[in-house]
Amino acid sequence: MLAPIMMDRRGFLRAGGAVAAAAFADAGLERVHAAGRQVVGQSPASVAADENYWREIQQAFTLDRTIINLNNGGCCPSPRVVHEALKRYLDISNQAPVYHMWQVLEPNIESVRRRLANEFGCDPEELAITRNASEALQIAQLGVDLKAGDEVVTTNQDYGRMLDTWEQRVRRDGIKLTKISFPVPPPSLDVLADRLLAAITPATKVLHFCHITNLTGQIFPVKRICDEARRRGVKTVVDGAHAFAHFPYKASDLGCDFYGTSLHKWLLAPIGTGFLYVRREHIAPLWPLTPAPASRTNDIRKFEEIGTHPAANHNAIAEALSFHEGIGIIRKAERLRYLRNRWAKRLAQHPKIKLHTNLDPAQSCAIGTVQITGVPTPSVVARLWERWRIIATPIVHAEYEGLRITPNVYTTLEEVDTFAAAMEEIAAKGVS
Ligand SMILES: Cc1ncc(COP(=O)(O)O)c(C=O)c1O
Repeated sequence: MLAPIMMDRRGFLRAGGAVAAAAFADAGLERVHAAGRQVVGQSPASVAADENYWREIQQAFTLDRTIINLNNGGCCPSPRVVHEALKRYLDISNQAPVYHMWQVLEPNIESVRRRLANEFGCDPEELAITRNASEALQIAQLGVDLKAGDEVVTTNQDYGRMLDTWEQRVRRDGIKLTKISFPVPPPSLDVLADRLLAAITPATKVLHFCHITNLTGQIFPVKRICDEARRRGVKTVVDGAHAFAHFPYKASDLGCDFYGTSLHKWLLAPIGTGFLYVRREHIAPLWPLTPAPASRTNDIRKFEEIGTHPAANHNAIAEALSFHEGIGIIRKAERLRYLRNRWAKRLAQHPKIKLHTNLDPAQSCAIGTVQITGVPTPSVVARLWERWRIIATPIVHAEYEGLRITPNVYTTLEEVDTFAAAMEEIAAKGVS
């Protein structure tokens, strides 16, 4: 009965009757690798502008090209190779889930943990696989011991659900929540660090902020903030929902205590995937959201005790990592900035158009937020959809508003140019 577990992956899939699907998946990755071989020796900046290379990447997705999806900040389509893996694992699971899912597929989560930890740059024993960034961050937010009067410092541009989570602790536990404001775009990275650190008081126990915000794509100087917070005895929860597999960095570049990210955003993994990093010394004292036996107190897997769940989603993360590695993070970030700069630099010339994102590579990457002054943002979003079938996200914050534009590796230049031309037309003629 245990023979399939001993076979290699190909042998196992053949035994499961999924040979055709596997061959398809392998071909998908082979095209990415073949495209990579064509550009060996070229600088990332030169590859970023090489449409022959990116055409191969574009072809790796099954998309609806009658729409232009510039909201890759919500969640992203997976490449074909990842989606095929997800479906294959679901098919395998459904044969006898108690055997195929629990005994065959589930134990392989350890390979995913090892590979994610390698990519993030931490020990696998510090990384829990979750269903999304919300779950990852809420484990930290709700699991850390705080008593009435203890303070959490964050910003008023952090993600709504994460702020709601702290607000619930205000109501339930009597903690204090302080939200600082910062200008968009900020005059310098120092302003972000200075404002957060200046808000720390003797009562502050936790600092919570985004690695990169979802509202304008602002990247924070994480290491500087975390190192200083640590020096003052304050724990750091960093919201990396938009950061992982978006631009290059390692855990050692951050220095935080807790880090939560989505994998269905920039890694292009199946929907319903994320991870939580917990610095080793904080694993034992952090309470899981879904309780685990006391014997697991020191085990990072205690945060994964969520009851019955599909193994397909988290196992297919492995294929997403292979696809990601096939492109390479430096090349990917360079292309994302190239696409963002193509529309942003063009629109920045227009007297009625205002960018809320600083284009400095240290401060942003794929995400840009842009406003047509004098035209309400929701109307611009509606017009883009009605007239051009362009998907954009309205950002309406108490202090500013604009459209958040996020291309992805599959986005074509024609799509970006259509968006830029549409914005110029709306800026010239309005929406009435
Ligand atoms: C900054 C930020 N934090 C957290 C989240 C929550 O991520 P998820 O939907 O994966 O739970 C998001 C989602 O867009 C986000 O943008």
